[in-house]
Amino acid sequence: MKGIILAGGAGSRLYPLTLVASKQLQPVYDKPMVYYPLTTLIEGGVREICLISTPHDLPRFKQLLGDGSRFGVKFDYREQAKPEGIAQAFLIAESFIARDPVTLILGDNIFYGGDTFQRAFDEFKSGATIFGYHVLDPERYGVVEFDAEGVAVSIEEKPKQPKSSYAVPGLYIYDNQVVEITKSMKPSARGELEITSVNVEYLRRKELHVVRLNRGFAWLDAGTSSSLHEASAYVQTIEKRAGIKIGCPEEAAFHRGQLSLDNLESVVTSIPNCEYRQYLQNVISEARRLAK
Ligand code: TTP
Repeated sequence: MKGIILAGGAGSRLYPLTLVASKQLQPVYDKPMVYYPLTTLIEGGVREICLISTPHDLPRFKQLLGDGSRFGVKFDYREQAKPEGIAQAFLIAESFIARDPVTLILGDNIFYGGDTFQRAFDEFKSGATIFGYHVLDPERYGVVEFDAEGVAVSIEEKPKQPKSSYAVPGLYIYDNQVVEITKSMKPSARGELEITSVNVEYLRRKELHVVRLNRGFAWLDAGTSSSLHEASAYVQTIEKRAGIKIGCPEEAAFHRGQLSLDNLESVVTSIPNCEYRQYLQNVISEARRLAK
């Protein structure tokens, strides 16, 4: 499974924060926003990741994430010249995807709780797998409607009259048909290649699988000043209470076996003395203690 992190866009709702640094580089409590979707992919076992951003912001992401070896993954970077839609990612990353299935995650989506995504990655065979999450304001998202058997029957982008309260979060798993499907699409009225149109096409082909995320699962999107602040508060609350970190890609890579204990130790020596380093040192000490 290949992975794409889509981290472009205008970020206009976060102005003036986004005048010099893109939305996905803003802090969510104690780390840059992009660390959270990156961790989600690593937890799912994805090792080859293409990060797509604007020509202006891409150098900053390279500076932040490097070649990926620090996180036990390999990064490829591609530019999106203009925000012409989420599905454009599949055209930009066509040669990166090659013949593989691919997961696309939005750089401003934060997920926490459970192993639903890991299981979906492991069990994925063909078609498309997307998710449904109960929200108060479905009209802001793609909305999926289910029949009595729980089978998805329709998907609509930002409908004025939503047919359900289930929004489609920004993590989508596709087989290789996604490239050909996107190539055949035309931009929507707002000039974008819509991810919802990709999902509608898989639905038409009877190859769309929609998994409902349960109540114990948190999906936060950090696109406005309020939701950014709420995401930070959420992360801080969990981290302080449990003494764990959410969205720590080095730790996820270690737990997935993508970084050995020795690799992790050498990564930690390159981190300045700070709370993040202290946390990873505790992860190492605990692993050494358990190995005895
Ligand atoms: P949005 O939040 O819908 O758009 P935006 O980030 O441009 O923000 P604003 O509405 O405040 O101007 O985008 C969702 C995510 O998808 C976000 O992480 C940016 C990303 N994106 C791209 O990278 N390229 C695109 O063409 C689009 C439409 C979105």
